[in-house]
This record gives sequence, structure tokens and C-alpha cells, in this order.
Amino acid sequence: MFYQKELETLKKKGLFRERKVSQPHRTDLASNDYLGLSQNWEVFQKSVRDLEEFGERSPKASMLVNGYSEIHQKFETRISKLNGFENGIVFGSGFLANFGILEALGRNGDEVFLDSEYHASGVVATKLINRTKFFNHNSAEHLETLLKSSNGKRKIVAVEGIYSMSGDILNKDIFEVADKFDAILLVDEAHSFGTIGQNLLGVFDHFNITPKENHIKLGTLGKAIGSYGAYVLASNEIISFLENRAKPIIYSTAPSLFETAVSLNSIEYIWQNKVHFLNEIVKRKNFFLKNFKIDKISLIYPLPMRSSSEAIEQRDKLLELGFVVGAIRPPTVQKPILRVIPNLAVSISELERFRDSLNLR
Ligand SMILES: Cc1ncc(COP(=O)(O)O)c(C=O)c1O
Repeated sequence: MFYQKELETLKKKGLFRERKVSQPHRTDLASNDYLGLSQNWEVFQKSVRDLEEFGERSPKASMLVNGYSEIHQKFETRISKLNGFENGIVFGSGFLANFGILEALGRNGDEVFLDSEYHASGVVATKLINRTKFFNHNSAEHLETLLKSSNGKRKIVAVEGIYSMSGDILNKDIFEVADKFDAILLVDEAHSFGTIGQNLLGVFDHFNITPKENHIKLGTLGKAIGSYGAYVLASNEIISFLENRAKPIIYSTAPSLFETAVSLNSIEYIWQNKVHFLNEIVKRKNFFLKNFKIDKISLIYPLPMRSSSEAIEQRDKLLELGFVVGAIRPPTVQKPILRVIPNLAVSISELERFRDSLNLR
């Protein structure tokens, strides 16, 4: 009654969305579980034991009241040290972290610069910030032009390590441009942690960049780590500012203790098995290069579709054949794609079956 017309328009345009209960036992090429850790029961069992030993299972309050536990602190210390940052803080989710950081950092008189393909969780915050500009995707030149003409008191630039839909890697020159203009650089590593870098730590690791005072790294726990939540790494000063100003930290219950314990055990697991993971990632990249002629640095393979309806049709056909892929349509992307993620729980022979099923179309 209230929104019927809008819903009808979405249906006509092939843009209607609907959540569907996911079916186990299908080949999952849609999720962001890059290393297949969501199926790791060893990590799960260890986390259950850790929580039993700890003696509590719910955070019960905001981190600033009584919800900050030893489990959160251990995770923050470990993830900061691994990545070479001074300090870190956990957030309830990547969405909350992105939204919370940008809304908190962009004060009056400051100016925020986002890559035009930046994730919606950051874009939504710009509605609450007075001055925001978007620069052309991955263009260090365009960013430089905008920064040159900016009279923002503080300048804050937000980019992704690996872009979630295209699978593009961040242009390294953007680090230099941010430094040149004394800008704060927020790097969202949602899709780069666990998939790139010699230690699988993401884009800083990949480019061998030592974190500096102006760097902020955002990592999510619901993707390669196979858990749920997020963390932000930065200098002591920035972390303290977020603790004082980021609304999802102040006004939201602390992140889940169980998921934080899983995250800590997962990062240790990744660390111990990184050589194996790196080899398996290379096998999947070689498979896509050989069979689809797509050379990507990440594990995100966008297959272009002619229309949103075609994307839905192909997704549904593949589902009947036992493969789950994402049909991503505007406004999430400009042009519709099938988003295919050959995560490490999917074997090469399953990928061969997928390739043959696509050929049947
Ligand atoms: C680049 C990027 N940032 C942030 C998020 C949000 O993270 P979360 O799913 O933990 O809320 C996502 C999730 O899809 C993402 O792709």
C-alpha cells in the first residue's frame, strides 16, 4: 500500500531484490569466504573451548560501558601487531566500521574524497558529512587534481584494497598522492585481507608499505576470516578519536565474543597455513586465466552480462545445475555481472564442471 508503486517499478526493471534461504550442498561460487574457513570446524571447536574457559558468552553492553572484554583486546593486539599498526579497535560489522569512521572523521571544515566505486557503507556516511567529493575510480591523477584545489582543513581519502565488484587492485600511486597532501588515507581491506600479499594480509602487505600516521586500515571478519564483525587499525591518536566519536562504538553493543574468538583463531590458522593457502589461490587464478582468459590479482571474477534480466536468468540456470553465483545489478554496479568467487573450498574439478556448465548456456 505504501511502497507498491516503487516495488512494481523495480520488478519491471529487473532490479527487484529478494533474500532466499541459502542451500547447502551446492557449489558456492557466490560468497566472500575466500579461504573456505567458514567450514573449518577445528577453528570453531577451539573458539567454543576459549569461550567456555572465559566464562561468558555475550558482551552485554557497549565497549565503553562494560562490554569490552579480554577476548576483544587479545584480538585487537594480535591483528595490530601482525599488520604493523600502533593500535586497533573492533567494530560490530564492516558496514558499521565504514559508516562510523567516515562520519566521525569528517568534521566541519574537513573534506572527504571517495573513490567512485567505494562501498555503499562508506557512501552512506557522506550524506552526513558537509563536504564530500568522488574521484574517478582508481585515478591517482584525478584525486591529485581534487586535493590540489581543496581547502579542507583535514583531507580524508577512502579507497579499497581490492574493489568488491570489479576485483581491481588499488592503484599504488594513491598512497603517494595522499602523503603529498598530508591526507588521511582509509583503506578498506574487506576483499584484500586473506587474498593478496606475501603474508595474505592485504594491500599494504602486497605493496610492501609500512603503515604511517596517516594510514587507517579497515578489515572485515565476515569474508576471508569466516566469522563476523570488523576491525580498524591506525595510530593511537586516531583510534582514541574513534573511541570518542564513532557512534557505532559508543552507541552499540560490543561485537560478539564468539565471533571475535573465531576471528582470532582464524587469523592464527591463516598465519600457520599461509603457504598452502597461497598455493591454492594461485591454482584458481591459473584456472581462470587458462579457461576464461581473465587475469585477476584477486579471487573476484566479474562475468559481464548484457542486461539485469540476463544476469538473473543465468544465475537461476546455474543454480539448477548446482552452482551458486551472485547476479549483481545496478545500482550496486553500473553494468550487470555474474560475480564468481572460486573460494578454496571449491575444488579445481568442481570449477571444471562449472566451466562446462557455462558452456551449456
Ligand atoms: C568493501 C566492503 N566494505 C565493507 C563491507 C561491509 O562489511 P560487513 O559485511 O562486515 O558489514 C563490505 C561488505 O560487503 C564490502 O564489500
